[in-house]
Amino acid sequence: MKTAIIFGASGGIGREFVAYCLQKYDHVFACTRQSQNFETIEGEHQGALHLMQVNPTTERELKVFAQFLGGREFNVQLIINACGVLHDQDGLAPEKKIEDFNVENFEKSVLGNTIITPLIAKHLMHLLDKGAKQLNTTGVFASLSARVGSISDNYLGGWYSYRASKAALNQLIKTLSVETERRFKHSAVIAIHPGTTDTSLSKPFQANVPAEKLFTPEYAIRKMMAVIENVTLDDSGKFYAWDGSLIEW
Ligand SMILES: NC(=O)c1ccc[n+]([C@@H]2O[C@H](COP(=O)([O-])OP(=O)(O)OC[C@H]3O[C@@H](n4cnc5c(N)ncnc54)[C@H](OP(=O)(O)O)[C@@H]3O)[C@@H](O)[C@H]2O)c1
Repeated sequence: MKTAIIFGASGGIGREFVAYCLQKYDHVFACTRQSQNFETIEGEHQGALHLMQVNPTTERELKVFAQFLGGREFNVQLIINACGVLHDQDGLAPEKKIEDFNVENFEKSVLGNTIITPLIAKHLMHLLDKGAKQLNTTGVFASLSARVGSISDNYLGGWYSYRASKAALNQLIKTLSVETERRFKHSAVIAIHPGTTDTSLSKPFQANVPAEKLFTPEYAIRKMMAVIENVTLDDSGKFYAWDGSLIEW
């Protein structure tokens, strides 16, 4: 039973990945810290939706989730980490200048943007690889990163915590891809940038974005899934943009 797992499923992008995957997978696990429902995912779909209240920054919860999955006949073929944070209502905001930098906001950024991917990998990578082997396909672990996390692409400065937490995420993904080649031979690990997408994360920063460069979640997910669905083992360790072009680390 072809299975996809989406983390950050209550987010603007995560939710849309869930909706898309329900058209293509037998089972979709929508993992979120929230105890909300997904009644707004409407229409016919082939897959069964499983809502899981899992906090991916809490290892105990990931471990219980992995044990649940491992004890059943789910062939995990796709894992997407769509978690991330740029601002919140308690003072987290992208820094305009170095004087705005502080420890608390940097730690929040690392928590939401950096550590979730390695924790998911630690607990679920073996299940992805087993599922891919059984389905005779490539298992894909895709993490939502951001172009501003690219060190070589940084021309504007600012946004210290978000940039650095995504750059660290990128290094973790690259490092995981090296181990994956050796240990999880049926799987690939990639970073992907969605483009500026109309969600609560980008909302405060949309004013100067030309209309044609502000994507709906539906469009961004359709484009990203066209990339993800064509990932092969040779693509592991790459950093993709939404349109399939490569971004320098
Ligand atoms: N929107 C854009 O323009 C844009 C551009 C570039 C990159 N991205 C990246 O795309 C991804 C999705 O963003 P989005 O636009 O969908 O944002 P969003 O609507 O704010 O959703 C982000 C989700 O991340 C999860 N999350 C946030 N902080 C967390 C924490 N501390 N621990 C665990 N989970 C946490 C939450 O999911 P739950 O509450 O369900 O657990 C939240 O719903 C992020 O990685 C973001 O950096 C977005």
